Amino acid sequence: MSAAVLVVGSANADLVVPVDRRPGGGETVLGGDTALSPGGKGANTAVAAGKLGADVALLGAVGDDPYGRLLRDSLSNAGVDTQFVRTVDRPTGIAYITVTPDGENSILVSPGANSALEPGDITDEALDGVRVLVASLEVPLPTIERAVVRARENGVRVLLNLSPAAEVSPETLAALDVLLVNEHEAAYLLGSEDADPRKLLELGPRAAVVTLGAKGAAVIEGDKSTTVESPKVEAVDTTGAGDAFAGALAAALADGADLVEAAERAVKVAAVTVTRHGAQPSYPTAAELE
Ligand code: RIB
Ligand code: NA
Repeated sequence: MSAAVLVVGSANADLVVPVDRRPGGGETVLGGDTALSPGGKGANTAVAAGKLGADVALLGAVGDDPYGRLLRDSLSNAGVDTQFVRTVDRPTGIAYITVTPDGENSILVSPGANSALEPGDITDEALDGVRVLVASLEVPLPTIERAVVRARENGVRVLLNLSPAAEVSPETLAALDVLLVNEHEAAYLLGSEDADPRKLLELGPRAAVVTLGAKGAAVIEGDKSTTVESPKVEAVDTTGAGDAFAGALAAALADGADLVEAAERAVKVAAVTVTRHGAQPSYPTAAELE
């Protein structure tokens, strides 16, 4: 038996360095002190949902090392069920992150243990009782495609956070209830920066949510497109804001909210996360949101 929300995705230790600017090829740049914090798109999504009070499990993989234990602790502290987090014979994934003074990040991921997540890990037991599945793309694509298609067959509501952008099969896109993308990922899928985001539905998902950073998010369902505004905040670190959005969206959907209501909650949660440093440590609890 799993949880109401099952997240399939990565878990990484984030090594975050503040920089004035990023080094170019062959260049050395000195940054500030390194901060270590739990991250990874899958673990972030699960922790965001867990902190908001959702019944949530992560299906993922970590190594038998201190970073793996850091991630397990963070998941457990957020109330995330870790029975489907495997410990494998690879180092825990690491994300090397630079953050500039405007709060923008750039990320290099060494997937390590995340690469060991196989289609065979998507078991009946892991899907048992699940109402909402959330997948993201830092783990092998065949595993994600299997999770999405199996969940769909089982009548589970399926969300795919297409992050980082990758080419997924038409069957996978067609199995989605909600395709979640940022503006870059939408442009990647549509092959152009200026394409109408409503065209995302022609790829097969029943609905699409496009996150727009400080501008909030657009919810596209049928021929209706709704813009959800973000509260104005001072961004210090946007790392993991999209993952928090995905977790909050899934938590709200599992709670019975409709997609626009869910996006309204997710936009608020994401806005809080960018005002604080790190990914998981920046995520608010339901009580903090009040
Ligand atoms: O989306 C943010 C996340 O991307 C970071 O936590 C990092 O681990 C990478 O997976
Ligand atoms: Na943050």
